[in-house]
Amino acid sequence: MSKSPWTPDYSKLADTYDKYRRLKPIDRLILDRLIRLADVRREREVSLLEIGCGTGNYITPLSWFIEKGIGLDVSKRMLQRAFERCREALFILADAAAVPLIPEAFDVVIAVLVIHQIWKDKRPTVFREAFRVLKPGGKLLTVTFDPDFLREHPYSLFPGVLELDLKRFCPVSELEGLLRQAGFRHVNSEEILMEMKYSSKGLLESARKKLISTVALLPEEKFKSGLGEFKRRLLSKYGEDEFPFTYKRTILVANK
Ligand SMILES: C[S@@+](CC[C@H](N)C(=O)[O-])C[C@H]1O[C@@H](n2cnc3c(N)ncnc32)[C@H](O)[C@@H]1O
Repeated sequence: MSKSPWTPDYSKLADTYDKYRRLKPIDRLILDRLIRLADVRREREVSLLEIGCGTGNYITPLSWFIEKGIGLDVSKRMLQRAFERCREALFILADAAAVPLIPEAFDVVIAVLVIHQIWKDKRPTVFREAFRVLKPGGKLLTVTFDPDFLREHPYSLFPGVLELDLKRFCPVSELEGLLRQAGFRHVNSEEILMEMKYSSKGLLESARKKLISTVALLPEEKFKSGLGEFKRRLLSKYGEDEFPFTYKRTILVANK
């Protein structure tokens, strides 16, 4: 299994991720939207594959509503955490570019904050694999960040983060093109917005714990020196008090 240079070492980060990146209000909003877009209802007996399921933030609550759930991830440690939380789903250690499952097995495939971690050359294969394992009429739902949003986000003040993010996250229109090339039709996207309260202290703490995968990818020296500069820039732009911030994620909907 070849590792992408855009995926941080989750064998080291899994425990912190599991502890501090449990479902937040924005994730609950996304989860509700995914449930509606995928028309997940008990009586429909939906089969769902989550690629890059991580510690099970999404597959765990989803598995209450579906008939068959499988979580797939390249990180063994992340999967172990997911398995400890969720006994209703099955978990597979595999690369999303080579899904070891039969064709046309799922009604829904989801990928939440994963595609930016996959090397660009490999993304067409990942989408083709999702297409292959979906039943005709099935849906792929991909959650990501629009690069313009990342430019406005306070994390962009961390030295080196925006440059790296702009390499990893591509414009939504580019992803839509890749989805069409993989065979999907009726590809479209929608934005999920949420008004949040941020503080310099909270943002600094998340960076310190490397909860943002881009920060976790920085070489240790750059990370350490970046923390001080990040603090200085945050305080000079936002001060010490809480400030409002409009958070945004994008969901791409693709039909087979
Ligand atoms: C930011 S985490 C998101 C986890 C989960 N979807 C969530 O929202 O909490 C990204 C996950 O994608 C996984 N991942 C990265 N590249 C992958 C690949 N090629 N195939 C499968 N999983 C991958 C990582 O191991 C990690 O668990």
